[in-house]
Order: sequence, then C-alpha cells, then structure tokens
Amino acid sequence: MSETTAFSPRCVLVTGGAGFIGSNFVRYVLAQHRDVRVVNLDNLTYAGNLENLADVSGDARYRFVRADICDADAVLETCRENGVDSVVHFAAESHVDRSIVGPTAFVDTNVGGTLNLLMAARKCGDLRFLQVGTDEVYGSLGATGYFTEETPLDPHSPYSASKAAADHLASAFYHTYGLPVVITRCSNNYGPYQFPEKMIPLMINNARQGKPLPVYGDGSNVRDWLYVEDHCRALWMALTRGRPGRAYNIGGNSERTNLEVVKAILRHMGRSESLITFVKDRPGHDFRYAIDAGRIRDELGWTPTVDFESGLARTIEWYLGHATWLDHITSGAYQKYYEEMYAGR
Ligand code: NAD
Ligand code: DAU
Repeated sequence: MSETTAFSPRCVLVTGGAGFIGSNFVRYVLAQHRDVRVVNLDNLTYAGNLENLADVSGDARYRFVRADICDADAVLETCRENGVDSVVHFAAESHVDRSIVGPTAFVDTNVGGTLNLLMAARKCGDLRFLQVGTDEVYGSLGATGYFTEETPLDPHSPYSASKAAADHLASAFYHTYGLPVVITRCSNNYGPYQFPEKMIPLMINNARQGKPLPVYGDGSNVRDWLYVEDHCRALWMALTRGRPGRAYNIGGNSERTNLEVVKAILRHMGRSESLITFVKDRPGHDFRYAIDAGRIRDELGWTPTVDFESGLARTIEWYLGHATWLDHITSGAYQKYYEEMYAGR
C-alpha cells in the first residue's frame, strides 16, 4: 500500500464544485496554485449554481462538466480526457432536513455516487482521492468531550448515515485495493455562496426581509463553526500531504449554541431579537458537535485562522452585498421548499 505523503496535483477533478464549499475550493485552488488545472464535475441539483463560479469561468485552467457522479461512463471519460490525477469529492446531497423528508437521493448520490467515483479512480491508475466527510458521522456529544478520529462512527440522520457509508467505502478501497484515499471530517462551515437552506444564510436572508427566524427546539444545540476558506486550506493540505488511509478531523474551535448564533446575526444586522421564533425541533436532532483537530494541526500544521465574530461579519456583509445572487437562489423552487419545510412547524 502506498504511504507516500507528498503529492503535487496537476489536474484535480472536483466533484460538486458548483455548490457551497466546492465553489470556494475551486476558487481557492485557482488563486493559490497557478500550475494546477481544475475540472468541476457537477450535475447542478438545486444546490449547484454556476453563478458561484462566474468570476473564474473564463480561466483557461478551469473546466466545467455537467454530469452525475453516478454516471460511470461520464466520470471515466472526464478523468481520461483531462488527464485528471486526483479527485476531491464534495458532490453530495448535503442537507439533514431534506434527508429526513426523502432519504433515497442521499443514498443514491452519497453512497452510489461515491462508489462509482472510487471505481473510476482505480480504473484511471489509482488517482489520489480525497473524501470530503463530515463530523456528523460521529453522532452526537453531550455537554462535554470532543470527536477524535478514533470516535466510533454512529450516524443518526439519513444524511450522516449515507456519509458514513461513503467514508467506509473510501476506507475499504484503501485497505482492499491500495487506492490512496484520505478522508476528512469537518464541522459546520459558513461563508459566501452557502445555499440558504442551511442555518446561517437562511437566518441572514430572513433577517434582511424582516421575516421570522425559525430556531429549532429551544436553540440550545451546539455546532462548531468553521469559516469556509479555512476548510479549503485544510483540504488542500490533506490532499497533498495527508497520509493515505488516514482520516483528519477539521474544526473551527468556535462552539456556539444556535441561539447565540442567531442573536449574533441579528446584532450584526441591527435587527430586533423579536424576530426569533422557536419552532418544532428537527427529529433526532444531534445535540452537540465539537472537533478535536489535533491530528491535522500536529501532522500537517493546519489551524483555523478566522475567528467566528469576524467570519460572521464578513459573511453577512457578503450576503448583503450579493442581494441579486440571493434573490435568484431564493425564487421559485426555494419558496416551495421553505413553505413545505416550515409551514405549521
Ligand atoms: P452543497 O449542497 O452546497 O453542494 C453540493 C454540490 O454537489 C452541488 O453543486 C450539487 O449540484 C452537487 N451534486 C449533488 N448531487 C450530485 C450528483 N449526483 N452528481 C454531481 N453533482 C452533484 O454542499 P456543501 O455544503 O458544499 O457540502 C459539500 C460537501 O462537504 C458534502 O460532501 C458535505 O457532506 C461535506 N461537508 C459539508 C459541510 C457543511 O457545513 N456544509 C461540513 C462538512 C462536510
Ligand atoms: O457538521 C457538519 C454538517 O453541518 C454538514 O455535514 C452538513 O452538510 C451541513 O448541512 C451541516 O449540518 P447541520 O444540520 O448542523 O446544519 P444546518 O445549517 O442545517 O443546522 C445547523 C443547526 O441549526 C442545527 O442544530 C439545526 C439548527 N437549525 C437549522 C435550520 C436550517 C435551526 O435551528 N433552524 C433552521 O431553520
């Protein structure tokens, strides 16, 4: 099995590059690594938006391919035609609430699609494969303690169960076939281009319109927030210097209750806390996520650089400065989604 620890990508296949973290990662790589080409393979679900990459679409080192990660021929052809040497796999159904309403797409994309990509990576000569995972696979913490990479996987939602299955498949391809797989598991991201179904952009969008801010349960659930650019930097380090077969936790050192986050948003935006509305809780709502990111710090030298208060201020400023982007993304299907998800809650 390969234990190589330094790898210099020339052409990276980014799956799901039109989504939130994927588009930030594409931009990060093109800006930071002038000698690297990026192929973005994305089938543009409701969460995929080429507007997220409008500023880099003319870059000669960037190519977009509209395809489904479940389509074996399309994936193989894309890798071969472009001389892809590595895969950073973001593409997924990513929203927990949607997985509760309809789990099938989550298994199809997150499990079936990941398996398809792993098989393609083997066929193309054992491409370096970064499986972008989530801390949600570890389950839920009580008031104390942290997830380490040794914490047993104990996913609770259909989303996290499908992501755990994907991690297991990636790990199996390392152990069985020697595919150079690295797995990362990250806490909650926030920042520009996040789809406003996720808590922070949803609350910003509602606050700007003076609409109620729907806090699940009593708002005491805790998440560990990470600014998306810090995540992108960690992913590049894991891709290029991570040890194959290994998992790396990535976290923000920024635990907050949901109520604290929502109040901070209202404070930054100069809006009244009377907009806060407590609504029926998410079924099986994990209480707390908190990451021990000691391994990636000690082995790869990564630590988060953006503190939550300034990251949130930057994020709010970005959304308020991109009202057209928000208006596009929240018209049509989003309205229907919002009504169905929140009506009578
Ligand atoms: P997102 O929902 O914003 O974007 C997902 C992207 O994948 C979209 O562009 C979508 O079109 C594409 N996609 C979906 N199904 C596809 C398919 N079958 N074929 C091709 N493309 C497809 O997601 P995100 O929040 O950017 O998350 C990206 C990845 O990071 C996911 O794997 C997620 O599990 C993981 N992750 C997210 C967070 C977070 O806080 N958002 C934290 C940790 C890990
Ligand atoms: O931890 C990493 C995970 O973070 C990623 O793997 C997921 O892809 C990503 O969606 C995110 O999952 P969460 O379920 O934690 O994120 P979400 O933004 O949906 O919710 C954050 C918290 O806010 C959670 O405790 C539920 C709560 N919430 C969410 C929404 C959408 C509310 O109180 N009200 C809301 O309207």
